[in-house]
Amino acid sequence: MNSLLKLSLFGSLVAATAQSGDARLHARSSAPKCDTAASTLSLSDPPYDNYFYSDCNVAAQAVITSPLPQSDLTLIGPRLVVAWPAGDSGVCAYFAPQNGVNGTLSLEMVNSTVGQPLGPVYTAGANSSANPSVGIQGVLRFNSSATLTVPILGSIRTIRDFVEGPSLLHSEIQDAIQFVANNDGSASLQRTWLDNVTSTSLTFTPYSNGTNGKVTVSNRTLSFTAGDYLISASMNYPQLTALKPSSVLNSASSNLTTTSPGQAAALSFLSYSEKLLAGAWRFLTYFGRDSMISALLLEPVLSSGNGSAMEAVIGAVLERVNRTDGSVCHEETIGDYATWTNLQNNITSSAMGCDYKMIDSDYFLPVLMQKYFLDNPVGQKRAASFFKYLSLFSLSFDLMANARTRTSAGLVNAENQNLTWGDLALISAERIMRLARPFAEKQTKANLIHLKDGQVVGEWRDSEYGLGGGRIPYDVNTALVPAALRSTAALARQGIYPKHKKWSKLATKYAQVWEEKTLDFFKVSIPQSKAQELVASYKNESSFPGPDQAASITDDVVFHAVALDGNNNLTKVEVMNTDDCFRHFLLNTTDDTQLTPFLNNSATNIRRTFPAGLMTSASMIVANPAFGGDSVYAQNWTTGAYHGTVIWSWQLAMMAKGLELQLGRCELSTNFSVSGRYGQAKNKDNGNVAPIPAFCADDSVYGNVKAAYNELWDSIEQNESQLSGEVWSWVYRDGDFQVTPLGVLPPPGGGSQTGKFCLPC
Ligand SMILES: *[C@@H]1O[C@H](CO)[C@@H](O)[C@H](O)[C@H]1NC(C)=O
Ligand SMILES: *[C@@H]1O[C@H](CO)[C@@H](O)[C@H](O)[C@H]1NC(C)=O
Ligand SMILES: *[C@@H]1O[C@H](CO)[C@@H](O)[C@H](O)[C@H]1NC(C)=O
Ligand SMILES: *[C@@H]1O[C@H](CO)[C@@H](O)[C@H](O)[C@H]1NC(C)=O
Ligand SMILES: *[C@@H]1O[C@H](CO)[C@@H](O)[C@H](O)[C@H]1NC(C)=O
Ligand SMILES: *[C@@H]1O[C@H](CO)[C@@H](O)[C@H](O)[C@H]1NC(C)=O
Ligand SMILES: *[C@@H]1O[C@H](CO)[C@@H](O)[C@H](O)[C@H]1NC(C)=O
Ligand SMILES: *[C@@H]1O[C@H](CO)[C@@H](O)[C@H](O)[C@H]1NC(C)=O
Ligand SMILES: *[C@@H]1O[C@H](CO)[C@@H](O)[C@H](O)[C@H]1NC(C)=O
Ligand SMILES: *[C@@H]1O[C@H](CO)[C@@H](O)[C@H](O)[C@H]1NC(C)=O
Ligand SMILES: *[C@@H]1O[C@H](CO)[C@@H](O)[C@H](O)[C@H]1NC(C)=O
Ligand SMILES: *[C@@H]1O[C@H](CO)[C@@H](O)[C@H](O)[C@H]1NC(C)=O
Repeated sequence: MNSLLKLSLFGSLVAATAQSGDARLHARSSAPKCDTAASTLSLSDPPYDNYFYSDCNVAAQAVITSPLPQSDLTLIGPRLVVAWPAGDSGVCAYFAPQNGVNGTLSLEMVNSTVGQPLGPVYTAGANSSANPSVGIQGVLRFNSSATLTVPILGSIRTIRDFVEGPSLLHSEIQDAIQFVANNDGSASLQRTWLDNVTSTSLTFTPYSNGTNGKVTVSNRTLSFTAGDYLISASMNYPQLTALKPSSVLNSASSNLTTTSPGQAAALSFLSYSEKLLAGAWRFLTYFGRDSMISALLLEPVLSSGNGSAMEAVIGAVLERVNRTDGSVCHEETIGDYATWTNLQNNITSSAMGCDYKMIDSDYFLPVLMQKYFLDNPVGQKRAASFFKYLSLFSLSFDLMANARTRTSAGLVNAENQNLTWGDLALISAERIMRLARPFAEKQTKANLIHLKDGQVVGEWRDSEYGLGGGRIPYDVNTALVPAALRSTAALARQGIYPKHKKWSKLATKYAQVWEEKTLDFFKVSIPQSKAQELVASYKNESSFPGPDQAASITDDVVFHAVALDGNNNLTKVEVMNTDDCFRHFLLNTTDDTQLTPFLNNSATNIRRTFPAGLMTSASMIVANPAFGGDSVYAQNWTTGAYHGTVIWSWQLAMMAKGLELQLGRCELSTNFSVSGRYGQAKNKDNGNVAPIPAFCADDSVYGNVKAAYNELWDSIEQNESQLSGEVWSWVYRDGDFQVTPLGVLPPPGGGSQTGKFCLPC
């Protein structure tokens, strides 16, 4: 069993077709021929049906939403979305039944000679320098007469402003849509972007082979009779360079393209030589944290070397680092939304923008760089040319510093012109060393890493209720900072930062302090009887219909607060959580007096059933507010909240992998060489001997951790069909936790939400 791939963010995708090439036959003759067959993927997760199409000319996704009898019609309406990774672009069309009865209109893509169901669209540009217009087509069936109520053409971000926000529409974008009735009986919507160059169009043509529909245009509205329509969505923004399934995976894992074609196709759809995308369909663009976590978890199967998936991730992050303060970019703004955003600032430009509000992303970068440039043999050889040094590993430090070639950054992010990726890695590492120093020197709460001023979010729990208003997040302070420092020390030792040779020792010293002195600030310890009372009162306050599990609490409950300095004057935001996984996955801590109870409590909390712990039959939830003891907790961390009592697939992956790594430390023997030349163990003062942690010899603790690992795996396997999504939730029905998509539950603040890695929504 290849546990890693099973653990992949893209988990087990249900259906895949290594397309026969049928669709290609129908591409316009002007489309350049592709070396490999088109790749397609269909994923159904009612009320959502997702279809992916990609070949060498275009990559796009179509999502059809069609309400089910049980759907909440205030959240779910008939809708077509088409999304292109290129420019983070998209088309969205909402429909309403003409008879006015919500819930009676359903939409469906049907197979046709155009594709099963999607085929490509390709129209050469007006001249040789113009981009072709590319997209997808397929047959859409309306079961009853319908009206197109809201069209949005341009950027996915504009569509998200409408879908996720308070139904925001921007008149400078909406008013530019042209409604055209064509002579052949078809109707088109067309919009030129704010850049005055790019345009998007969506055409409906009655499809004569089916139940012949009729579309009419009147007063900026389209009306449809029941029937079949050939829809064609296209736009002429430059496409990204897709990595083929065979070049996303490394050669040892290449058989996954045949053994798990769906997973491979999904991963490939998200992988481009310029960047890896965070997820379909809302997030088909660069997200720093998401791509680095994916790369850390998937590293054993991802391709390495020039043009590889690993380098796409690291390169995309470095390219977007803020050259002034070294922050890693969280999300990029590109395409039509970039022009629009610039316009809001009275700037006429389509230059991309970056959002630097997250504080966690900085710390993943050196960890990933170590994993690739030091621990991966292919990466070791690539460091020199990647960083534009002549030869990193063969030249002396001083020579290297002078051997920098000309600029390589700035191609995507013009702000970083005249710098190399090496320069940007250095600037980012300098930031980490600068921010880590105060606490390394004086261990006060004030010296812990806080969210940026004026920001209410800053790490992965980045929704309104994620950290309960906390300013000092647990994951960043107890795991990410020390892990980044360990990696910075290792990278410095290897000459990646020639200016800072002393970092090798200094960052190690800092790391030790951050590893050992941060946990106590977050520790929450609740006596057994008090803990039993808390779960009982939580059950009442939250009207959770299942058992309170008080009897399973057989000792004091110990966990670490998800953050410090929260809302309602909370010193600690006492929400039990899964963020222990960062320490398990990223650190080999050596203080046994801390490690043994930490692992033991973490395992216990995983194993206990909610609300006494984190486990449910829908798998391990990321936050449990039951021990907060204040009703503000139960209100905000709910089954409908993005970071509430819900399940995140990458958290399952990181927890399982982290426990595996910790248990793996017990297998080390004195002649075991840890992680090659650069492993932490090798650098211990006691020579080449990896110290075996004390918990390994404690049968009770070791057994508890192992049981947590196995039970977590059982739970992951039971919920395998969910793993391709970013997040899912549950309802308690018939005596059990039953899996439910998050998007169909009302969130605490209103609106609707679905996750980022969510391929099937
Ligand atoms: C149908 O749904 C739309 C969109 O949610 C809403 O504006 C409208 O009021 C609903 N109509 C009826 C009759 O419920
Ligand atoms: C459409 O074609 C695909 C691929 O051949 C097939 O898997 C799917 O079942 C078909 N759908 C329908 C509704 O027939
Ligand atoms: C697009 O054209 C309009 C009208 O000529 C002009 O005002 C605007 O600045 C142009 N936008 C860009 C990004 O060039
Ligand atoms: C209509 O269907 C027939 C047979 O079912 C097929 O040969 C033909 O190509 C189809 N035409 C179109 C436009 O899809
Ligand atoms: C067309 O739309 C406008 C603005 O929404 C409205 O005032 C007008 O009455 C509509 N005309 C018809 C014929 O529906
Ligand atoms: C795939 O290849 C790897 C390494 O070549 C091998 O260990 C593994 O068993 C293969 N898996 C399958 C399902 O063939
Ligand atoms: C980059 O960092 C500097 C210093 O913190 C800040 O002033 C600037 O706004 C940042 N750049 C962007 C694009 O946010
Ligand atoms: C843009 O210009 C308008 C009109 O001059 C002004 O009111 C507005 O404050 C400006 N916006 C920004 C962000 O500078
Ligand atoms: C890069 O250098 C060129 C030439 O010196 C200069 O014109 C340009 O402004 C620089 N770009 C940045 C972003 O500093
Ligand atoms: C819970 O949400 C309410 C309403 O937004 C807010 O006032 C309160 O401070 C929140 N409590 C916590 C602990 O986040
Ligand atoms: C928080 O503390 C401040 C100052 O002590 C007090 O005025 C305020 O009422 C407190 N807020 C809550 C929600 O307890
Ligand atoms: C921790 O030790 C394990 C050996 O059990 C090794 O595989 C892993 O790379 C080490 N992790 C770190 C962050 O040093």
